[in-house]
Amino acid sequence: MAEFDVIVIGAGPGGYVCAIRCAQLGLKTAVVEGRDTLGGTCLNVGCIPSKALLHASHQLHEAGHNFARMGLKGKAPSVDWKQMLAYKDEVVGQNTKGIEFLFKKNKITWLKGWGSIPEPGRVKVGDEVHAAGNIVIATGSEPAALSGVEIDEKVIVTSTGALALPKIPRAMVVIGAGVIGLELGSVYARLGSKVTVVEYLDAITPGMDGEVQKTFQRVLKKQGLDFVTGAAVQGAAVKGGKAKVTYRLRKDDSEATLEADCVLVATGRRPFTQGLGLEALGVQMEERGQIRIDEGWRTSVTGIFAIGDAVRGPMLAHKAEDEGMAVAEVIAGRHGHVNYGVIPGVIYTAPEVASVGKTEEQLKEEGRAYKVGKFSFMGNARAKAVFQGEGFVKILADAETDRILGAHLIGPAAGELIHEICVGMEFGAAAEDIALTCHAHPTFSEAVREAALACGDGPIHA
Ligand code: NAI
Repeated sequence: MAEFDVIVIGAGPGGYVCAIRCAQLGLKTAVVEGRDTLGGTCLNVGCIPSKALLHASHQLHEAGHNFARMGLKGKAPSVDWKQMLAYKDEVVGQNTKGIEFLFKKNKITWLKGWGSIPEPGRVKVGDEVHAAGNIVIATGSEPAALSGVEIDEKVIVTSTGALALPKIPRAMVVIGAGVIGLELGSVYARLGSKVTVVEYLDAITPGMDGEVQKTFQRVLKKQGLDFVTGAAVQGAAVKGGKAKVTYRLRKDDSEATLEADCVLVATGRRPFTQGLGLEALGVQMEERGQIRIDEGWRTSVTGIFAIGDAVRGPMLAHKAEDEGMAVAEVIAGRHGHVNYGVIPGVIYTAPEVASVGKTEEQLKEEGRAYKVGKFSFMGNARAKAVFQGEGFVKILADAETDRILGAHLIGPAAGELIHEICVGMEFGAAAEDIALTCHAHPTFSEAVREAALACGDGPIHA
């Protein structure tokens, strides 16, 4: 008998959720984690701390821009950066302790240290080797390196350094207009930094619906972010505490430089699988460094599974969580399922951006007949009452069956509203199903219903 039924390596959202579900299903479970706290990148240096800074900086922006309009007079608050970071750390601490509590409650053993797999069925942590019936690799990802740019986490930082800067930079260059660059870029722009985003492609947030991309960029520009698109960063150098970023414009090959007190490198992440001993085990890998898995999250070595950022698919905490739960079911001899067609993506800027399913560009490429139902938040009473009329809800539905194929939102609470569509898509809903569902008034959600109505006979408030 093995010491544990399951050993999960990594306590991020994929790993800890997997462990809890394993324990709930009656499996004796341990988790290997080398960080001092549970929760992985997402909780310690990613999703959660960034949300605290997004919230605080948004409040500052509201105070400076909208309070007087609402008859709230007085001096706008100033920033106590140390306190803002302490608030962020407090939020992280509460959540990491919450997972520790859940581990105790579910009788999950935390094996402290960095794990490796010396042979199938064995996990080594420090000097100890533990026997496991099944092993789940949930080791996540790390920032991808960018040639010519050396990270020091002081002046040239990844998202980790950007969440703990010693002071608010006067000028910041963000390399990469993806999710990390825009979330953290907008935090610092609201806190007073002059933020310039340099992006290789011609549009921001690659892969996102084209209309959303355009509106999003316009909104961020209004918030003070500058964009240099179609520009490949060649390198960055630090001298006397300041950085110089060199980029080459793709259209004419001309070179230019930008100076900044801080450079945030946000050009993507890569799977973190070093040190596990995968090569010696003969675990097959994908070309881009992910662990190869089958539809049951099994690697090429029996008894070893892999989930989350370490395998194919979007690098999203909730995708990892879903895989964590599903693989636990598989190990327990049940059926595990993840619907990869219905995984929402959210950018937590203000306004928020959210999407699920196909984009219009993808549907065109597939040659599918579709219809578009669009509704502007300008026609939504609740949004106007809180100065958030910018943005829209766009629903894409099959031209013949009316079945929802995708939805793309930019606007207030978009990251919450998207789930109505996700549930609908899980149930195979038609746009008409949402259009015929009573929505409370006045809510932001009414904009979703209006977009659904726009797929049929038309919205009421447009
Ligand atoms: P990303 O893949 O979203 O964006 C990277 C951007 O950098 C791309 O637009 C790319 O074209 C650009 N780029 C690459 N090389 C460049 C160069 N040399 N010069 C200029 N631009 C260059 O990556 P990001 O933002 O670093 O995020 C990493 C992962 O973390 C993503 O998979 C993302 O989904 C995930 N994440 C998700 C969040 C959320 O769901 N809210 C929050 C933060 C991260």
